[in-house]
Amino acid sequence: MAAFLRLCALVILVFSLVATSISADLNANYYKKTCPKALSTIKTVVEKAVAKEKRMGASLLRLHFHDCFVNGCDASVLLDDSSSIDSEKNAFPNINSARGFNVVDEIKSAVDKACGRPVVSCADILAVAARDSVVALGGKSWNVRLGRRDSRTANRTRANTNLPSPFLDLPGLLTSFKNHGLNEKDLVALSGGHTIGFSQCGNFKNRIYNESTIDPNFARTRQATCPRTGGDTRLAPFDATGNKFDTDYFKELVKRRGLLHSDQALFVNGASTKDLVKKYSGDRALFFADFGKSMIKMGNITPLTGKNGEIRKNCRKVNSG
Ligand code: HEM
Ligand SMILES: *[C@@H]1O[C@H](CO)[C@@H](O)[C@H](O)[C@H]1NC(C)=O
Ligand SMILES: *[C@@H]1O[C@H](CO)[C@@H](O)[C@H](O)[C@H]1NC(C)=O
Repeated sequence: MAAFLRLCALVILVFSLVATSISADLNANYYKKTCPKALSTIKTVVEKAVAKEKRMGASLLRLHFHDCFVNGCDASVLLDDSSSIDSEKNAFPNINSARGFNVVDEIKSAVDKACGRPVVSCADILAVAARDSVVALGGKSWNVRLGRRDSRTANRTRANTNLPSPFLDLPGLLTSFKNHGLNEKDLVALSGGHTIGFSQCGNFKNRIYNESTIDPNFARTRQATCPRTGGDTRLAPFDATGNKFDTDYFKELVKRRGLLHSDQALFVNGASTKDLVKKYSGDRALFFADFGKSMIKMGNITPLTGKNGEIRKNCRKVNSG
């Protein structure tokens, strides 16, 4: 038994050393010398964009997630179609859905101007914009780790397979997150990103017309703007406060008012995820703290660092040459 415990301790030690060496590639002070104005410049543009349209905060948060789950956080999601790029923007989870690309362009030109040259990667812009968006809508800040570089490739096929579907049950969601080094707690905390933003009717109509794990009053309310046939692009907020980063998303799940099948699965499919949902629904400080920790973990997914990749001049295109 003692030998077994020692072995366990050794395994844990080795794993944590490996984990630290991966995330140690990124650090919060990365641009301190090369562009001290980088972070404040990004924040200014994000705040302006969110003031103009609150939903933009949600859209920017989602872009970072959709970047990190496909080839790591390397801004692959931002590349437009070209002769060498099969754009991830055309993958099913993104097409007619992912948005905020113009704001990213705006941030990029403001940052390059403030720095005097292109030193800040598009991948880091996504990570910082996600954090600034959450803060602009009422969430708590975290220290974004920086130093990611931008890819010279994209993979539409992988965007189709790696981004989780809203029709998944808990096991599928857990597998998807585990494939990216994220655990059950990360899944529940990060799903809390759905405390802001909107979904199109086509993604939840089966749930509101066919499922039994739903509050019937909530189903009726949603049916009023999401018809049985047609109207697939009509929007509904994930929770009643779609422009506020708060714990309402989890409160709704407890009442069986989750919008997506995958949202409600966290509460009805598993005992420990259910416990976490309940905890977060009543403990804002805990949710905010765990969300920040899990965002840092998500932001550490296989970044390009050192001499790998490049710093794009235009987030939509790889540099020429
Ligand atoms: C757990 C698996 C997840 C699934 C199945 C999922 C699925 C979806 C779907 C279907 C939409 C609506 C898209 C549309 O109708 O156009 C959406 C929106 C959104 N997702 Fe997720 N998502 C997941 C996890 C996450 C994570 C981890 C984050 C961020 C931390 C996130 C942030 C968002 C945000 C903010 C929106 C609203 C975007 C907007 O209004 O523009 N999601 N998600
Ligand atoms: C894209 O990803 C798929 C699935 O992982 C892989 O088979 C394919 O080779 C990749 N394509 C490119 C262009 O990297
Ligand atoms: C409800 O389920 C039936 C049977 O699976 C399916 O044919 C129908 O399209 C579903 N309704 C909606 C609105 O998704």
